Amino acid sequence: MKTLIYYILIISIIFLNEIHSQIDNKSFFHESIEKNNILDSLLSEMTTAEKVGQLTQIVGKDKVSKELIKEGKIGSYLIGIDGAIKANEIQKIAVEETRLGIPLVFANDVIHGYNTIFPIPLAEASSWNPDLIEKASSIAAIEAAAEGTHWTYAPMVDIARDPRWGRIMEGSGEDPYLGSILAKARVRGFQGTSIGNKNNIAACAKHFVGYGNAEAGKDYNTVDISERSLREIFLPPFKSAVDIGVETLMSGFNDLNGIPASANKFILKKILRNEWGFSGFVISDYNSIGEIIPHGIAEDKKEAAKKGFLAGVDVDMVGDTIIGNIYMDNLSDLASQGIISESLLDNSVRKVLDFKYRLGLFDNPYVDIKYYENNMPSKVYIDKIARKLAQESIVLLKNENNILPLSKDVGKIALIGPLADNKDDLLGNWACDGRAENVVSILEGIKNKISGKSELVYTKGCEVLEKSPNNIRDAVELSKSSDAVILVVGEAKWESGEAASKTNLNISEIQMELIKEVSKTNKPIILVLLNGRPLTIPWIDKNIEAVIEAWYLGDQSGNAIADVIFGDYNPSGKLPVTFPRSVGQIPIYYNSKNTGRPPTEYKYTSKYLDEEVTPLYPFGYGLSYTEFEYSNLQLNIDTLSDGNLEVTIDIQNTGSYDGDEIIQLYIRDIVASVTRPIKELKRFRKIRCLAGEKVNVKFQLNRNDFSLLDVELNKIVEPGNFDIMVGKNSVEYLTKTVFVK
Ligand code: BGC
Repeated sequence: MKTLIYYILIISIIFLNEIHSQIDNKSFFHESIEKNNILDSLLSEMTTAEKVGQLTQIVGKDKVSKELIKEGKIGSYLIGIDGAIKANEIQKIAVEETRLGIPLVFANDVIHGYNTIFPIPLAEASSWNPDLIEKASSIAAIEAAAEGTHWTYAPMVDIARDPRWGRIMEGSGEDPYLGSILAKARVRGFQGTSIGNKNNIAACAKHFVGYGNAEAGKDYNTVDISERSLREIFLPPFKSAVDIGVETLMSGFNDLNGIPASANKFILKKILRNEWGFSGFVISDYNSIGEIIPHGIAEDKKEAAKKGFLAGVDVDMVGDTIIGNIYMDNLSDLASQGIISESLLDNSVRKVLDFKYRLGLFDNPYVDIKYYENNMPSKVYIDKIARKLAQESIVLLKNENNILPLSKDVGKIALIGPLADNKDDLLGNWACDGRAENVVSILEGIKNKISGKSELVYTKGCEVLEKSPNNIRDAVELSKSSDAVILVVGEAKWESGEAASKTNLNISEIQMELIKEVSKTNKPIILVLLNGRPLTIPWIDKNIEAVIEAWYLGDQSGNAIADVIFGDYNPSGKLPVTFPRSVGQIPIYYNSKNTGRPPTEYKYTSKYLDEEVTPLYPFGYGLSYTEFEYSNLQLNIDTLSDGNLEVTIDIQNTGSYDGDEIIQLYIRDIVASVTRPIKELKRFRKIRCLAGEKVNVKFQLNRNDFSLLDVELNKIVEPGNFDIMVGKNSVEYLTKTVFVK
């Protein structure tokens, strides 16, 4: 009897679920019919000029062109940071004063926070913590949404192997796997489960594609990449963003293999649409359609408009009216002359209208100020995430004789350096509405941390770049009378970011003079680096006992750095990018090929006469205050045919501090039909491991992880042996071999 009742119950549940899901499907079905009806009828009423308007974005927060909006000539606005009231005012013009009342979309570069500034993306990538990065992105989303932003131009997912390129700070570094995981995390954080939700904004993966590989690291420069490298290295983070549902993509400024990215059918049509099935829309970069002319493949703006549009760039992000609105001024003509078919135009316009519909703008075009007054995450929560992410973004590069962590009652501490009492630079580039006054400086962070038994004395020593005035002498005197010295040096924030390429990655001469003079005092020195790119610091590595890579950590900089210096947080960050010894080694990256003559003692091998061949700090590198011992690497099978390969390893914390460790799994295809990288990151895991504790970590790999692109660029798995390397960075690991059938 009991069993019968049980069965009846189960069957009823299944039945109810079925009805429920049918109702769900039905309402989804009805909704999408309703949406299609609205969009179809809107499209049928639009003039060609109004359609082109939806494909035009203008820029400039102070230069709102009311007339252009009223005429329906603008579909979206790069709004800057003027706040909800201003956004609503502009929106009102579109909704109430245009013929069809189609709302505007407001875009913005929300890169690493909106009001609250988190670490720069390259720093965040050093945390290898996608969950935390997702949380930070979702805070940025709601803060931006509250002030009128619907759409961010992030994440930047360009792989960068050249630290001369200033925009390396905006991405996740050199690795396609880490870059793909973090691309997903950021898209999820911004977009949440629906862009119609008031807490979310739409994302835009940029800059499609290859922009990070500018020749000689010079911004906007030519990019020449083989299709193999494009597919293996530069495309995967974009694919990963598309797979997770990124709404939009931005086409790059760069020439890619002879065709500017913003006119490049191969990437925009063949790969993005045909191979990946991307259904969102593509926006150009700032005037990148206009720049097709200087690239030399269009004679005038009309031809540029034609080439950009026909290649698959739906929306034109233009600089301002000086540069010229390329689509606005030319697409209508091109359509009336039949050069661009009406159906192609409709196809792009529909995608934009669909986007606006799903953002909820047809129902609620205005920022719901009340909603945000009542629904912002608490300051306590936001600060907690910002501090945690800042802590985890710090990479300990050197800690000779374990001089770190310092005791809170160490005695007299000399804090020296141009960035020690600085707030503005710590925001880093692309800091949206971030404010210097919200930043905890390093001086403040340390002051709040030390005990009554310690004394903190500060002097600037010198500027970041200018040689005079400086007070290096005072800095030396102060150091002599101190028990420990903390030197804070690096780059000003404007030295990285867009149009901030460099040929010299040394710390400025005057700061080096400061460091060298202070080091002569023979006091214990902790050097904190603030910068937006790997710098060349061999002298520092050789002569300074402790080096902390702190990038730019945003609002919580000073707190997080003090947490690390005084041991309240045991550093766990690992480099997402290789640090060269000198500029001449660039590009240098961990997943290089072996060559026919890998470096040995023998002269005629692949190396330099005047420089070592290894990097200063390899990809994946970062120290902890404790020691992690790796042992017992095991594979559950010797041969993989179908199913999964399980890889297990023991990690023991043999030191005296609890700590987090990022365990990295690399593979190497030993013999294949095409040359393969000497290492490819395939998995990683961040674990908490208490002092003395031993943790067994398990990874799963499947056949797909062992695939390659064959000579014809088809994705296949070739039978053969693969090394499985698991370790603490890309040069220290244990190895086992598996045969893949
Ligand atoms: C940058 C883009 C950015 C755009 C809008 C361009 O100069 O390359 O990354 O999204 O400006 O600010």
